[in-house]
Amino acid sequence: MSKRYAVILAAGQGTRMKSSLYKVLHPVCGKPMVQHVIDQLSRLDLTNLITVVGHGAEKVKSHVGDKSLFALQEEQLGTAHAVMQAESLLAHEKGTTIVVCGDTPLITAETIESLLKHHEATNAMATILTAHAEDPTGYGRIIRNEQGSVEKIVEHKDATEQERLVQEINTGTYCFDNEKLFETLSKVSNDNVQGEYYLPDVIEILKNEGQIISAYQTSDFAETLGVNDRFALSQAEETMKKRINKQHMLNGVTIVDPSNTYISADAVIGRDTVIYPGTVIQGTVVIGENCEVGPNSEIKDCKIGNNTSIRHSVAHDSEIGHEVTIGPFAHIRPQSLIGDEVRVGNFVEIKKASFGKGSKASHLSYIGDAEVGKGVNLGCGSITVNYDGKNKFLTKIEDGAFVGCNSNLIAPVTIGEGAYVAAGSTVTDDVPGKALSIARAKQVNKENYAEKLDINKKS
Ligand code: UD1
Ligand code: CA
Repeated sequence: MSKRYAVILAAGQGTRMKSSLYKVLHPVCGKPMVQHVIDQLSRLDLTNLITVVGHGAEKVKSHVGDKSLFALQEEQLGTAHAVMQAESLLAHEKGTTIVVCGDTPLITAETIESLLKHHEATNAMATILTAHAEDPTGYGRIIRNEQGSVEKIVEHKDATEQERLVQEINTGTYCFDNEKLFETLSKVSNDNVQGEYYLPDVIEILKNEGQIISAYQTSDFAETLGVNDRFALSQAEETMKKRINKQHMLNGVTIVDPSNTYISADAVIGRDTVIYPGTVIQGTVVIGENCEVGPNSEIKDCKIGNNTSIRHSVAHDSEIGHEVTIGPFAHIRPQSLIGDEVRVGNFVEIKKASFGKGSKASHLSYIGDAEVGKGVNLGCGSITVNYDGKNKFLTKIEDGAFVGCNSNLIAPVTIGEGAYVAAGSTVTDDVPGKALSIARAKQVNKENYAEKLDINKKS
């Protein structure tokens, strides 16, 4: 097998997106389009992967990181000109170069592999990945001669009425003999409606030189969708969502209503976990086995153990253990560490706090900047008063402590092991282990005083 290289075209402005975000960074199921393409290509055995960047180069580079080399296209003069920017990195190499557009996020490694095989088997100088489109508007059309072999690709804007009737489209993915590609790029002109150097023109030039041109038609048009505007973006999202959900279901996850469940491309979910409708799972999420998530929950960048239930709740950037119960209507904010068998009940907000095994905050609490030990009970309405308007302070609640209802723990403060805070306390000083702390005004009962107030007297 000869060496294989890939060039991803990601320098375009994306005018039709009407966005301040660079086109290839628009997310599909939470991951930038260009990242989808790179991740698929990374599954192939490639010597080098080069992303051509231009608009928003720095942002694109920082997203992609070290998964690719980069070539800069300062001015966007067309797709042929874009590939040419990889010349100094690639032109001298022998082998096959795959070119993929950064705006075709649904393309799979399997299809590119089939394209490569076809290219190698036919000894072609160039092989185009084509597809049959019900509505080919906007795509380059594959023009074949009477014998059925490819003559050229005509862009929609340059096509005649007759050519526009052709439904076989250029998907924007190709294989080329590397040296021949770079030799031919310099012969491409910009004499067309858009005044651009078109990569597809390489095909006609090679054909006229008598080289073998091949085409491989995929049966799945959806996979080759090029995203030029927000409508196509929503179509890509829909297709990717179905693909991701199906994969989880085949792996043993129950998704009660797949059309109403949104799972990011990078989520890992264990067997027998059930995802209820209205659930949005974003970023890098790992969910264990036999969990219940949803309905109506949002989970982003979290790691969740086994047998845990999260209902009607939001959890971000946190770690949640095994056999935990969260919700309904709880909010787990970043940097929280919820231990095994913890219970976080309704209207509880947790921020940057750790909870040891078996602790509970069952109702109406705010626990922020806190270390909660094991077996702690935080009564209804317990609040860590962590912020004085300028700085944040830590609250420590040691193992087995019991905090009564409606208590304010004014940080920095420690509630010692096994201590008991009476309901309604405002605790400003540390409570020693095993102590009872009562920090509230003493109750005074004035006999018969209510009568003097005459509260029942009608005016
Ligand atoms: C392109 C193809 C068309 C094909 C379609 C498939 C050309 C001329 N046309 O059209 O035949 O049917 O893709 O989706 O190639 N880019 C650069 N630098 C540039 C211009 C574009 O890097 O100077 C990048 C864009 O970021 C994009 C990709 O190349 O990722 C394709 O460019 P785009 O303008 O979207 O081409 P289409 O009009 O869709
Ligand atoms: Ca496009």
